[in-house]
Amino acid sequence: MTIPLILDTDPGVDDAFALALAVASPEVSLVGVTTVFGNVSLGSTTANALRLLALLGREDVPVAAGAARPLVHPQARLSSAHGSDGLSGFAHTLPEPTREVDPRDAVTLMRDVLVAADRPVTIAAVGPLTNVALLLAAHPSLRSRIGRIVVMGGGLDGGNITPAAEFNLWCDPEAARRVLVEEDVPVTVVPMDLTGRCAVSAQWLTALAETSEVGAKLVGLTPDYLATYRRFLGWDGMVLHDAVAVAEAVRPGILKSTRFPVDVECSFGPARGALVVDRRLESREHLGVDIALETHVEGLREFVFDRLGALGQAD
Ligand code: BDR
Ligand code: CA
Repeated sequence: MTIPLILDTDPGVDDAFALALAVASPEVSLVGVTTVFGNVSLGSTTANALRLLALLGREDVPVAAGAARPLVHPQARLSSAHGSDGLSGFAHTLPEPTREVDPRDAVTLMRDVLVAADRPVTIAAVGPLTNVALLLAAHPSLRSRIGRIVVMGGGLDGGNITPAAEFNLWCDPEAARRVLVEEDVPVTVVPMDLTGRCAVSAQWLTALAETSEVGAKLVGLTPDYLATYRRFLGWDGMVLHDAVAVAEAVRPGILKSTRFPVDVECSFGPARGALVVDRRLESREHLGVDIALETHVEGLREFVFDRLGALGQAD
C-alpha cells in the first residue's frame, strides 16, 4: 500500500530535487503539492512547482498556492542561495506548464486530501511552516488523518540564515512553534546538522546529469546554489536539505531519529527562529518530536541518486 504524500514546498533548488525524489518513489503516491513563500516569492515558488512537475511528467498532481507571507511578522529577507528565480536563474529552461495552478488554496487542497484519504497521509514540509500551521489551526479534527509531518528545518548546532536559526524555521517562527510545539501530531524534524552531512559532490551531480535529460535539467538548476554551498562547505558540493527529508518521508527509517522536547524561539533577539532542543535526560519522558540525527550517509546519497537516475530512464 502506498503512502499518500503531500509536499509543501518553496522551490528552491533542493526543493526541486526533493520533488523529483517524491515523484520517483513507488512507496508513495504524490497527491498534492502546496507552495509557500520562502526562498523566493510565492508567485515564483508556485511557478517553479508547476514547471518542475511538467518536467517530471506529473501534471496530474494538483499544485495549490498557499501563504505569501508569515503568519504574524513580515519576512525580513529572502534566501540568497537559490538565485533570483529560485532555480539559479534557470527556471526558464524547464518546460512551460500546460495547466494552471489549482483554484483551491493550499489549506483547502490539504483539507480535501485528508478528508478523502483512506489511510494516514504524510505531509513533507520543506519550506516555512505557515501553510501547515494554518491547516492545523483551521481543521483540528483532521489531525488524526495525518500519519506524520516530516519537517526539514532547524539546527541543533547553530543555523544557516543567522548564527542561531535555520532558514525554514526563521522565516516563520510563530508557525513553526505552532506545528512543532503546540500541536499533538506526529512530527519528524530533519535538521540541517544531518542534511549537511549528506551533502553531495560536484561529481555526484555530473554523474546524475549523465543519466537522462531529466537528470541534466535538474543539475542545470544548481549553479547559484552550488556556488553558495561551495563557500559554506569549503569543498565543491551542495546540500540537498529537502531531498534528505523526503527520503525519510518515502522510506521511513532511512534516517535514525530520537525523540526530544523542543521549542522555537519567537522573540526578537539574536536567536529568533532557533530550534531549542532539550537534550537533558530527565526531559525525555515529555512529549516531543522525533529528530533525525543519524543515517548511513553514503547509502542515503546512493538512494537519492538511484531514484533520480531511474526517473530519467523512464523517459
Ligand atoms: C532550507 O532552506 C531553504 O533555503 C532550503 O530549500 C531548505 O528547505 C535549508 O535551510
Ligand atoms: Ca525548501
